[in-house]
Amino acid sequence: MTAPTLAANDPCHCGSGRKYKRCHRIADLDPARAAAEQARKDEAARLAEAHVTPGRLSPRREVPEHIERPPYALDAKGRPGVRESGAPKDAETLEKMRRAGKAAAEVLQVVGAAVRPGVTTDELDAIAHEECLKRGGYPSPLGYNGFPKSLCTSVNEVICHGIPDSTVLKDGDIVNLDVTIYLDGVHGDTNATFFVGEVDEQSRRLVEVTRECLDLGIAAVKPGARVRDIGKAIQAHAEGQGYGVVRAFVGHGIGRAFHSDPQVYHYDNPSARTELVPGMTFTIEPMITIGDWHHEMWDDGWTAVTKDRSRTAQFEHTLVVTETGAEVLTRA
Ligand code: MF3
Ligand code: CO
Ligand code: CO
Repeated sequence: MTAPTLAANDPCHCGSGRKYKRCHRIADLDPARAAAEQARKDEAARLAEAHVTPGRLSPRREVPEHIERPPYALDAKGRPGVRESGAPKDAETLEKMRRAGKAAAEVLQVVGAAVRPGVTTDELDAIAHEECLKRGGYPSPLGYNGFPKSLCTSVNEVICHGIPDSTVLKDGDIVNLDVTIYLDGVHGDTNATFFVGEVDEQSRRLVEVTRECLDLGIAAVKPGARVRDIGKAIQAHAEGQGYGVVRAFVGHGIGRAFHSDPQVYHYDNPSARTELVPGMTFTIEPMITIGDWHHEMWDDGWTAVTKDRSRTAQFEHTLVVTETGAEVLTRA
């Protein structure tokens, strides 16, 4: 067809009823430009499709009366309440932390086994919630500083603290499940990244290296070493493989309080001079990125994503410093 001689405000020749200038004029005058514009729109749609977006939240889950609640669960704003130092724990507290750690590890295994294409992150939350209650524990995230759910679910470019919702996991996704249980007055905190169906080679490698980073961080723990040595080991391995280390979130002391000193950086931070002493309990939980390690927050105030929307993975254990190294408390 030859280009019809229509004025800009005439109805388009295609019969759409729209003005010619809003419809086929560009395509008629400059087909290459029109094709490029369409390609840009398709690419933007493809990217939006590939990226995680907020879903709908289910109603708040109930916790039976007989389950002991952490102090923040009784506060309207979920303020932590107990402050705790990073000092070594006594034998009785450590025994409790062994039980809480084991329970957290078991819950993580059960929830992880439910990961498959088609499951929603809210369904995973329901499982985590029930598995904590079954063991007589309280799901620590629920109500913590206002967090609305019992589990953190962080998909693809979500670094951490993703909120379980109506999001459906699909083949090729990676998802981090972060379980914390409050049992007999202490917390056990652990997380792992799982594959949803068949995952691409690049993402598999990221997850593998992230697990190695946690292992190397744990291997750096021994009396006389400093907190700094943990991050140093992690950063060397991650960056050696071409990956980034997220700076904005750290491992933490843990016990009666969910989060306390020391702050465990996952990169070499010279200010982390605290000496490791037997009986100290803390988490190591490196977040490693394929691309840029900088983060952005969603408007929900919790969900942290990589700025460049590249994928990221995480693994976490709670451990105690021993006379010779570290005892991991969150192994099932
Ligand atoms: N489990 C997370 C951590 O490793 C903390 C989650 S806090 C929550 O420290 F409020 F998001 F649940
Ligand atoms: Co933690
Ligand atoms: Co955690």
